Amino acid sequence: MNGIDPGWLPPEAFRPLGARRVLIAGSGPLVDTVRREVSDACARFGGEIVRDGPYDLLLRLPDGEPVGDEEEFTVAREGGATTVTALGGRGLLYGLFQVVRLGEEAFSGALPREVHRPATALRMLDHWDNVAVHPVMGQVERGYAGGSLFWRDGRAREDFARIRAYARLLAACGINAVCVNNVNVHAVEAELLTDRIGEVAAIAAELRPYGIRTHLSVTFAAPVVLGGLSTADPLQEAVRQWWARAVHGVYEAIPDFGGFVVKADSEGRPGPFTYGRSHADGANLLAGALAPYGGTVHWRAFVYDHRQDWRDRTTDRARAAYDHFAPLDGEFAGNAVLQVKHGPMDFQVREPVSPVLGALSRTRSAVEVQATQEYTGQQRHVCWLGPMWSEVLRFRPEGGAGPTVGESARDLVAVSNVGDDPFWTGHPLAQANLYTFGRLAWRPDADPYRVLDEWIGLTFPSAPERLADGLHAVLDGSWRTYEKYTAPLGVGFMVQPGHHYGPSVDGYEYSPWGTYHFADRDGVGVDRTAATGTGYAAQYAKPWAEVYESVASCPDELLLFFHHVPYGHVLRSGKTVIQHIYDTRFEGVEEAEEARRVWAGLAGLMAPARHERVAELFEEQVRSAREWRDQLNSYFLRKSGVPDAHGRTIY
Ligand code: GCU
Repeated sequence: MNGIDPGWLPPEAFRPLGARRVLIAGSGPLVDTVRREVSDACARFGGEIVRDGPYDLLLRLPDGEPVGDEEEFTVAREGGATTVTALGGRGLLYGLFQVVRLGEEAFSGALPREVHRPATALRMLDHWDNVAVHPVMGQVERGYAGGSLFWRDGRAREDFARIRAYARLLAACGINAVCVNNVNVHAVEAELLTDRIGEVAAIAAELRPYGIRTHLSVTFAAPVVLGGLSTADPLQEAVRQWWARAVHGVYEAIPDFGGFVVKADSEGRPGPFTYGRSHADGANLLAGALAPYGGTVHWRAFVYDHRQDWRDRTTDRARAAYDHFAPLDGEFAGNAVLQVKHGPMDFQVREPVSPVLGALSRTRSAVEVQATQEYTGQQRHVCWLGPMWSEVLRFRPEGGAGPTVGESARDLVAVSNVGDDPFWTGHPLAQANLYTFGRLAWRPDADPYRVLDEWIGLTFPSAPERLADGLHAVLDGSWRTYEKYTAPLGVGFMVQPGHHYGPSVDGYEYSPWGTYHFADRDGVGVDRTAATGTGYAAQYAKPWAEVYESVASCPDELLLFFHHVPYGHVLRSGKTVIQHIYDTRFEGVEEAEEARRVWAGLAGLMAPARHERVAELFEEQVRSAREWRDQLNSYFLRKSGVPDAHGRTIY
């Protein structure tokens, strides 16, 4: 496909399907997509679409019933034929991709009837894409894969084939919604809501055939900046009417429009606080406008004081989302979804699960993760995030037999890691993050390593075992390796300010962003206990409030998130904090070097361009890992004066 990497849908992955006799029963736009997929595969591999039996594969919708968006499907193989039965067009499409995932297995032996049903209603990618290049953030905010897939030079791109190919990849991992612009809505992007909705509609038309709904980030100040009103006060009738008219216009252009994403009163964006109103007032205003059309507002909980005085030890950014939103539980409209970052801070390599996710029994919620690797190596480092996301989704906020985060969430959202790079994600192995997100969103309790197997099987359909083993060796532990050479024991933000790449231990220490580690000559970490600290630990229900409150029971990997301890403090692992810092930095670099060596041994087992791209990036990863190791070790040696027990080189 014109030099664009096929991702996890290389033609070869369709060979088992394309060599068969396939009967397709049903009609509708998504069935047409299924038919096109099957006919392309058959043209390539010698099979055919038949009008009646005998057949090897039946893809069917229920006879004569109106077909909606239903996503459930069943797969079974009996009497020498494989049958996919779906309740709606999306289900049929997902069933087709399940057959592709199964490969030959779909057509051999018996397959007991298996029902596939997504656990979440909406599985969305938020693109932080700007229409016009932003002077500081560029075209894609925190984007590491080239420019935007949707926008270029101030308008919608005309590269529609690319958008269609993207939609196809997303459908094949179960994603059903895309938000096409940045949550920071600047002046030009604000206009997408009204005058420029036609451009959004053109993108929506390319996403629709693959069952993907389009969402839009909007500014809360739209009635003022677009409508010329003097206020955006959510309780003013004129404001309500303005939104009703705007939403009407959106649905005229895009009848299946999904809804809005809103970042309000956050990092300088406008919001209801300006008018003395609550976030529930704000969210409900937009929810009310969208409700007649079945749309949803995703209201982000990322609200904190970004102009904090670092001298002020009473304010704790980690507390902010809970303090703002937990008291509002039950006040949000049914079609308002509170979109909560998975951790209380900001997508650091290690954070506890946000206590907000345990505090919303009467509010629909979405968990937001970051596929774009802002703080996890910026798609120059291999960092497969499946295990991290899985830990979050399996966390039980009430402990014991309570529900997991994955069971309680209505929606799962990832900040997209895709751009117009030929490999889609810049680093070719970052594709695994996108695929894994989609599959975990479908089934939050899925084993991430099995998902990785799927990705490998699809992406490299004729991979020898050696390649699959090598990919696992490089990817499986990559998040923990990254954690080892970067910020230790749950402390975060030791990054270069602004762009957030590479180490700078004190880069954010005296900043207004609320991101401190408080290292001094005696110790390091943030006291977030109820007894002597900021009280953040008490935002959790039992047992977590107690687990985190006590130094003795707090998990090592989160120790410095919750406690300020001396360098000589002995971890549960038996090591002192300072020795742990030294050891993990050295290990992390060794693991990165080892991954680079394994990768070098995989040359010749895949397309040369893909191998070379990753090999080049490994040079940068190893260089950067050494920089992290040496800066952090030197910093902590100089602060603490405690030598490394093994006498290794520290500067
Ligand atoms: C981070 C990121 C910003 C982004 C923000 C958000 O702070 O650095 O670029 O705008 O998150 O999630 O809104």
